[in-house]
Amino acid sequence: QRLVVLASGGGSNLAALLAAHEGASYGARVVGVVSDRPTAGALDLARDAGVASAVVAMKDFDDRSAWNDGVLEAVSVFQPDYLILAGFMRILAPSVVRKFEGRMMNTHPALLPSFPGAHPVRDTLAHGVKITGCTVHLVDEGVDTGPIIAQAAVPVLDGDDEPALTERIKVAERALLVETVGRIAREGLYVAGRKASIGR
Ligand code: GRF
Repeated sequence: QRLVVLASGGGSNLAALLAAHEGASYGARVVGVVSDRPTAGALDLARDAGVASAVVAMKDFDDRSAWNDGVLEAVSVFQPDYLILAGFMRILAPSVVRKFEGRMMNTHPALLPSFPGAHPVRDTLAHGVKITGCTVHLVDEGVDTGPIIAQAAVPVLDGDDEPALTERIKVAERALLVETVGRIAREGLYVAGRKASIGR
């Protein structure tokens, strides 16, 4: 299965997928990386792995709608079976989400539906939560609201600050993402026990 990864940041989740796809039995390959930030570390990782990439920066477009068209075009070139949002910090328009309905997944560093949004780890600590984690979910037209596919729990330890907890979650997150994407590539996507139909 062909994966396209969208990333805005350092790309540790991308790195984990790139390491996994080397295995012949993984069932999926990252065929393209798309970023909204020209300086994203994810782009360096793609280059080092010999994977094609594209930058679709908001500032290069007249407005948000043109940018969304740009993202769609950049992604479509790679003919993906699945799109993986791995630290992609922009919200895609419903028109883009609909094009990849049932084939676009996001990873989020909290146990959704708790703590959606841009600062989940900060919000987790502010609430004094004792168990948090990470979630892989299908992307729908909301923010971090789509059907949950997989979750892993991570304890919050006494004395945790945002960087420490973020790092602990990210270790679990990479493992969960790799495992979940591989399983879906090999077996198809099940949400709430039912197989989702997927057509390109
Ligand atoms: C991940 O924790 C992701 O869930 C969040 O941003 C982080 C990106 O990390 N939205 P990386 O760029 O994959 O290292």
